[in-house]
Amino acid sequence: MIDAATRLYCVFGNPVRHSKGPLIHNAAFKNKGINAVYLAFEVQDAAGAVQAVRTLDIQGASVTIPFKESIMKHLDWIDPTARAIGAVNTIVNENGILKGYNTDCQAAVAPLVPFGVSGKTVCIVGAGGAARAVAHGVAAQNGNIIITNRTEQKGKALAETVNARFIPANEMANIQADVVINTTSIGMVPKENGISFPPEALTSDMVVMDVVYTPLRTRLLDAAEQKGCTTIDGLSMFIAQATAQFELWTDMTPDTDLMRNIISGTI
Ligand code: ATR
Repeated sequence: MIDAATRLYCVFGNPVRHSKGPLIHNAAFKNKGINAVYLAFEVQDAAGAVQAVRTLDIQGASVTIPFKESIMKHLDWIDPTARAIGAVNTIVNENGILKGYNTDCQAAVAPLVPFGVSGKTVCIVGAGGAARAVAHGVAAQNGNIIITNRTEQKGKALAETVNARFIPANEMANIQADVVINTTSIGMVPKENGISFPPEALTSDMVVMDVVYTPLRTRLLDAAEQKGCTTIDGLSMFIAQATAQFELWTDMTPDTDLMRNIISGTI
């Protein structure tokens, strides 16, 4: 029941109306018996959003596109990993001190950990914000990283920061890797007919992961399944980052099956 003691959590983004955050966090609060609500706020500026957190004593916030970088300078403390990535996706209000974290990073590797990352060759397709988080997560697990990206300069810059090899996009078909991770928007609605990695370079011993979850079964995962690869869909990372946020806010671990079931019913 919402009453005078109910605490507020939220997501800041623009656009934000498609966000699945409210569905899963509210379900998790209810499931854990926590008197809190989580709302989506479509905001215009990062400074105003952070001021709202202070004014209204919002307990925690998710931060999404396009504020993950611009919000950082308004916070009181940034976790070293988030600083290295250059992006914050989580704000924790610790008695008025606003702390910034990046849970995308650990979430990107969490679904891969059962298959082993250390010493494996991991090809990351893309060099944007999502790629930076994934690359830092894989580097922290001692994976050998290959970055490939349409824009060479951006790909090379990311490769340098995580000590990775850069391979130009037109040479993707020659890449030999144990793990392939798509971090681009290719395959996501409305680009659902696109495929981010050449199917002919996929072999049955590979693990193929997509960060896209609309649709859940992208053309890349479809092709990977047909080749007999192990596949990891985009919901895995999305739920893992939300789980880590929930833990930072509440010190409790949410029921991830509950989260997956709720989202699966909506996409
Ligand atoms: P995000 O923060 O979600 O990662 P981003 O920073 O805009 O978003 O990065 C998007 C990534 O997808 C980039 O690597 C981009 O490639 P460029 O660096 O060449 O822009 C990649 N990407 C998006 N659309 C693409 C397309 N149609 N073909 C190839 N790469 C694409």
